[in-house]
Amino acid sequence: MKNVLVTGGAGFIGSNFVYYLLKKDPTLRVVVLDALTYAGRRENLSALPASANVVFIHGDICDRALIDEVLATHEIDTIVHFAAESHVDRGISGPEPFIRTNVHGTFTLLEAARERANRAGTAPRFHHVSTDEVFGALSVGDPPFSEATPYAPRSPYSASKAASDHLVRAYWITYGIPITISNCSNNYGPYQFPEKLIPLMIVNALSGKPLPVYGKGDQIRDWLHVEDHCDAIYRIITSGKTGETYCVGGDNQPTNLTIVRLICELLDRKKPSPDEKSYAEQIQFVNDRPGHDFRYDIDSRKIKRDLGWRQSYRFEDGIAATVDWYLANGAWLSMITGDPAYASWIGRNYLGRGETSPASNRKEEAA
Ligand code: NAD
Ligand code: TYD
Repeated sequence: MKNVLVTGGAGFIGSNFVYYLLKKDPTLRVVVLDALTYAGRRENLSALPASANVVFIHGDICDRALIDEVLATHEIDTIVHFAAESHVDRGISGPEPFIRTNVHGTFTLLEAARERANRAGTAPRFHHVSTDEVFGALSVGDPPFSEATPYAPRSPYSASKAASDHLVRAYWITYGIPITISNCSNNYGPYQFPEKLIPLMIVNALSGKPLPVYGKGDQIRDWLHVEDHCDAIYRIITSGKTGETYCVGGDNQPTNLTIVRLICELLDRKKPSPDEKSYAEQIQFVNDRPGHDFRYDIDSRKIKRDLGWRQSYRFEDGIAATVDWYLANGAWLSMITGDPAYASWIGRNYLGRGETSPASNRKEEAA
């Protein structure tokens, strides 16, 4: 591995991965390709050392001519593919960009890799970063998702990621493109766009806004610190077996409401509200997300056994470190929250849901 293309490298996990990769091997040349949608910011990479060998290309993964040129010019030997539309709520409001980027964009990258194999004699290694949401939803007591779980996506986001996973696997079976796939649980940590649960709650708490909890807040996700996800991907691209899928998760099962309360407690201690009330008083139960997946849980035994991966963050410590990061990076947050497009989306998505009492929300169970 010498020349690595990171798609979506200006987004949340992609930018964390660029830092992680260069920490592991500062001699690498890293080409970041990112369309800088609402979720991507060049500033997410501004803490790279001046010595880092990073090239930034502002471009779209659906642009086949551009991808061909990037693979050839930079002699790319490894592609780590993060670029995606990633937010479930946005996919419900408008699924079209999800199909375009997640399905057609992934297809375009795969075709470019296939063409490169034909021309150069070897295909770049292709790692596809995917989600546990492709497996659908669990009820309480169901066994966790694993590499053997059949696909059963239930939202436009997860359906588009499932489609891309299938394409990636098909290019291995049909054309021998050396692919790997990771299906990871919910990530949290620095640079996460404040529309996802954890950063949204931090931002809204600090700005005195409601903390919108969907339904009764009893849904469950598995959570993993982004740095642990980056380590899993690094292990897969350096020693994973081509053609294989790896499930990655953090082995924890807090409810959404537990997380929101934990964030409020941390903020009460670290940055007490000027009116001395607990931030928990800002919690507001709102109408539920349509088709809301009730629970995710993931069995990471394969990557632990085969690649020696272990998570390093305990959930409580990771959340505390994340709260600290957001408190210390007010300028980064203001850059995003000051954008009128952000305020407009948040207004429509959360405040437009209407307040409810938790008891009036139907208990969401997996269908
Ligand atoms: P993000 O929304 O923060 O970042 C996505 C990045 O992709 C942005 O920088 C955006 O500008 C870029 N992008 C979007 N469309 C593009 C296009 N057409 N061409 C080029 N760049 C484009 O997302 P994230 O949370 O960092 O997720 C990254 C990947 O990890 C996604 O594939 C997602 O499905 C997967 N994943 C995310 C999580 C999670 O909890 N966030 C968990 C598991 C897997
Ligand atoms: P999210 O961060 O959007 O990730 P995903 O939908 O991919 O799991 O949401 C995490 C959980 O938090 C999910 O069950 C929906 C819930 N949620 C809220 O209750 N309120 C919110 O404002 C958001 C953004 C999410």
